Amino acid sequence: MHLLLQLLLCIPLVVGEVLPLQPDLDNIQMTIRRSASRGDKLQVFHSIWGAIRSDFATDTDKVKGLYSQLGIFVRDEVQCSSGSTGQSACELQQEVRRHLRSLMAQRLANMLNAEESIQTYGMYIAASVEPALVRDILVHAIEDVYFHRPLEKLVQQLEQLYADRDEVSFRMMIEAQLALFGRYQSMHDNSEAFLFNVAHVVSKIRSHHMYASVDAGLQKRLEAMGKRLPPVLGLLFDPQGFCLLSRSDREYIYTTITDDWNYGLNGRQVFTWQKKNFTDSAGQIRAFVQEQHATPLFTLRSELFKWYYFVDPSEGNRLAALRSGSPSSSTSTWSIAYVEDALIFRQRELTLCAAEKFDDVRRLVKMLPGQMHTPPSDACQWLPVACAPPK
Ligand SMILES: *[C@@H]1O[C@H](CO)[C@@H](O)[C@H](O)[C@H]1NC(C)=O
Repeated sequence: MHLLLQLLLCIPLVVGEVLPLQPDLDNIQMTIRRSASRGDKLQVFHSIWGAIRSDFATDTDKVKGLYSQLGIFVRDEVQCSSGSTGQSACELQQEVRRHLRSLMAQRLANMLNAEESIQTYGMYIAASVEPALVRDILVHAIEDVYFHRPLEKLVQQLEQLYADRDEVSFRMMIEAQLALFGRYQSMHDNSEAFLFNVAHVVSKIRSHHMYASVDAGLQKRLEAMGKRLPPVLGLLFDPQGFCLLSRSDREYIYTTITDDWNYGLNGRQVFTWQKKNFTDSAGQIRAFVQEQHATPLFTLRSELFKWYYFVDPSEGNRLAALRSGSPSSSTSTWSIAYVEDALIFRQRELTLCAAEKFDDVRRLVKMLPGQMHTPPSDACQWLPVACAPPK
């Protein structure tokens, strides 16, 4: 038993990893090496496992050490199918794996529940075990917290797994989002806020410079997940932007090309154009997350000139575009909701709507009160569509 305890204190030495050797540890290594047969070695592994289970069951590092040594043993010296030793070795490996998985998954789940940062622990997991087990741990941790945490918040917490410029953590974060979404689907749940945040994170992942170097299998799974999201959200977060048609008249919002706005060169008028289903580059808009809350706030930019939309209270809360930077945040940030295939843009108690006609071909776009019900009237629902490409 004395020898066993020493073994426990230095599991990595079992198969002779390089560590600063202390005199008494030399003996242990020799003991192992002398135990020539695979059966004997397996017996040592069993003894170590027994001792860990009784005295160090929650010591992740020790379990991890045994797991990795067992992995080497199974890889180099026995096959699972080679008789009773092989079978027994693989059963032991599986048992240790299960234990390690539950230790790591529980710790991760506890951190998610406590809203602690999971980045460092995530990197520890990724550096400790093979990708398949990382995935398994994520699935179990998410299963554990799924009914205890607000789902839309979980999306954001899992995003923290990505550590700046670290590809391993980037892939792990993608795996975690896939695991969460997989769980959501298998539960047949329905949460707008969750889907909203998932669509946002998918868009961020896809436009990230590291995404191109992610392996094809993972990319394919992420793309498949993107396709299962409501198309309206895919368009909202599309880095190419979108055009907006009013549901009431199917007229698109566009920014005028001539400067006939009362701010001189610094502003442009915005209307809808009275030709149904028509779009072009003057209508191209991109939505940017300005402030990340549980539900984010957005700015909207007209892409042709890169001018930001804002609301002019002195013009009856009309929508217009400003030349540079973002205008004051109270008039240029929107919260965005969606109903079926339509987006709804709001500022405080006001909702963006197609309003009265300006002349024969144009209609004003205004922020109107009294449209806080869901869904608001058709004039206040905007269908995002891909803009027609410039001719
Ligand atoms: C506009 O597009 C919708 C959907 O594709 C279609 O149902 C409608 O008939 C179109 N309207 C016109 C005037 O083209």
